[in-house]
Amino acid sequence: MRGLENKVAIVTGAATLLGREVVAGLIERGVCVLLADIDEAGGESAAKQLGPRAAFCKTDVQDDAQIGHCVSKAVTHWGGIDFLVNLAAVYLDAGMQSPRSDWLTALNTNVASTAMLIQAVAPEMIKRGGGAIVNFGSISGHIAQANRWVYPATKAAILQLTRNAAADLAKDNIRVNSVSPGWVWSATFDRRTGGDRAAADAAAAPLHMLNRMADPAEVADTVAFLLSYEARFTTATELAVDGGYLALGPEQGLLGAERFKSS
Ligand SMILES: NC(=O)c1ccc[n+]([C@@H]2O[C@H](COP(=O)([O-])OP(=O)(O)OC[C@H]3O[C@@H](n4cnc5c(N)ncnc54)[C@H](O)[C@@H]3O)[C@@H](O)[C@H]2O)c1
Repeated sequence: MRGLENKVAIVTGAATLLGREVVAGLIERGVCVLLADIDEAGGESAAKQLGPRAAFCKTDVQDDAQIGHCVSKAVTHWGGIDFLVNLAAVYLDAGMQSPRSDWLTALNTNVASTAMLIQAVAPEMIKRGGGAIVNFGSISGHIAQANRWVYPATKAAILQLTRNAAADLAKDNIRVNSVSPGWVWSATFDRRTGGDRAAADAAAAPLHMLNRMADPAEVADTVAFLLSYEARFTTATELAVDGGYLALGPEQGLLGAERFKSS
């Protein structure tokens, strides 16, 4: 992939397993990355492990002053900003029982903060002649999932925000796209299975054409592609990195005859 060497990125949510992998994928392609996360211990240790092209800035993405500080730090440290990856999110969701306060927190963290980060980095990207942004959507933004009202609504909103931001920033040569992963080996699945990747893959298999969940590096490669020169005519789009999850549909690749036999 071209056009990544010596560029500067901010990645939010970079302290978690998936965020770190996204950062690592950019660093190995020559990008300098400011890791922005509310998790100070995790963010500091990730930046240390990732070497001199990584630095950490404790940032609560719900706080505009902290976003401003994060942007200034990237500029002071590396002279400007070319890329933004909005990965930070909360999974807060009690379905129909979700109180208004949870709705507001989730919409604030997942959606409004994505918009505020874009607002904050755009002037810096314009100074560099353009840039690229990747927002994290999800398969959850497309389908109905049991006992989930809040998180999927925020992910669907991010997909729409991506299109609108792309329309307004195109004149500044800033591309805005989203990635929508299926199930990814991430902190959540690690916790849920007690670190049992085989069990997680077995649960994921019937839902994904590729018969397993994604490695975080596979999502990271897709993010790097969307930021790269190779994606220079791609904007306002959603790129699924879901092993065929969304296309599979409820029939799950089974022949109709197989369903009748089992009923
Ligand atoms: N894990 C999956 O299978 C999967 C599937 C589809 C989409 N995604 C998306 O990928 C992204 C990462 O998911 P994950 O499962 O790794 O999540 P995670 O919960 O492991 O990580 C989220 C990160 O965001 C950070 N964060 C939360 N609130 C913050 C705040 N106010 N300010 C700054 N940072 C904050 C957390 O500290 C954490 O590091 C999310 O956007 C999620 O919607 C994940």
